[in-house]
Amino acid sequence: MKYIITGGYKIDGKISVDCAKNAYLPILAGSIMCNGEILLHKCPKFSDVENMCSILKTLGLKLKSEGDTLVIDGSNAKPNFVPVETAKLLRSSIFTMGAMLARFRRARLAYPGGCDIGLRPINLHLKGLRAMGVKITENHGILNCDASNLHGGRVVLDFPSVGATENLMMCATLGHEHTTILNVAREPEIVDLANFLNSCGAKISGAGTSTIEIEGVEKLGGTEYTPIGDRIIAGTYLIAAAITGGRIEVSGCNPQFFASLIDKLQYSGCVLTVKDDKIYLRSPKILKSVGFVETATYPGFPTDLQAQILTMLTVSRGCSVVQENLFESRYKFVPELIKMGANVITRERTAIIEGVPYLSGAEVYAKDLRGGASLVLAGLNAHGYTTVHDIMHIERGYCDLDKALSSLGACVKKVD
Ligand code: UD1
Repeated sequence: MKYIITGGYKIDGKISVDCAKNAYLPILAGSIMCNGEILLHKCPKFSDVENMCSILKTLGLKLKSEGDTLVIDGSNAKPNFVPVETAKLLRSSIFTMGAMLARFRRARLAYPGGCDIGLRPINLHLKGLRAMGVKITENHGILNCDASNLHGGRVVLDFPSVGATENLMMCATLGHEHTTILNVAREPEIVDLANFLNSCGAKISGAGTSTIEIEGVEKLGGTEYTPIGDRIIAGTYLIAAAITGGRIEVSGCNPQFFASLIDKLQYSGCVLTVKDDKIYLRSPKILKSVGFVETATYPGFPTDLQAQILTMLTVSRGCSVVQENLFESRYKFVPELIKMGANVITRERTAIIEGVPYLSGAEVYAKDLRGGASLVLAGLNAHGYTTVHDIMHIERGYCDLDKALSSLGACVKKVD
């Protein structure tokens, strides 16, 4: 499947974002620990979410959709093997490990897959779990985990990894001990996972700060929950408006969650107004370069918006520098942008961008989720037609992006 984009149409309209992929996925894994019925509202139609649902079914959970609500019954969940064909579908398959260990005290799964954005080790997950008493052996890419001696105590992460924070938090949720996890990540999606688990009966405090305290409880029940809106999708829409010289109102996600992007957009000359969960953007006649953007853990500039802002900078007047600090291989979309006339040089984790007046349409290939979405943004700006191939990468985290952008005045068609 591919998108064909006719560039040059200004974005003009209002849109509400889906629930966050990065909140929904760990929450789905968290449901493995729950005995009661869970109603998860506003289920987004991302392929990553569908794949996570398949993993839950492998583990014996029953899932059904009622409108956009996902009804989950984990009463018959089992610590079944998660094979390589399933685990490789998405990085977040690793979240099932902490949840299975909490509930069954054992887990067996293959190494996770996910976007090809460089090495994505799980050493921090494994080190943290071992510090909690989990015995882990690794054979031929399979992780065998035994948590019969799971205990609480203090665990220190060497780096505030989002996934490791979520995995360890889940693992410590069931039991009789107290666990303190230090140097944890502070992303809003971690707070959302803690809120979800607490609504099921967990006792987790401190999520959103760099220390999380967990008082183990005997079991978790059911709940009704709506995960937070997707700050990365919200940011992508704002940049879509900016790169087309348009205007937009985005709702459904707390603008505080992407304050670092708002700052850069203001610097580029956009006028932004925030009210509750709504943000309004009006772009200037000509975007300005923003100087230096470097990705960081929350609340710094998100790596998941690096490709989108870099794409905007290719048509912003002046020179900008982007530094990718989280992942080693996140510039695979840049050669595609260069085909469209962008003036970008990359050296290891640094990109230097000299803005050009406009891009020109070309045949380009999505290599990963966020880089793929930025090629669509580039196509919105470009003169002529742009074809973005391999959009299965984009569909991992954006639902009907063609329809959403077309409803805002763009011309994006999805074809076989
Ligand atoms: C999550 C997000 C992803 C986002 C990333 C950083 C989900 C489902 N995905 O991914 O969209 O880009 O946070 O905000 O929430 N690392 C290690 N060892 C580990 C774990 C991580 O070295 O055991 C390194 C990674 O290689 C990377 C950095 O830590 O360089 C950050 O990774 P991490 O925060 O764990 O990202 P994910 O949870 O995989």
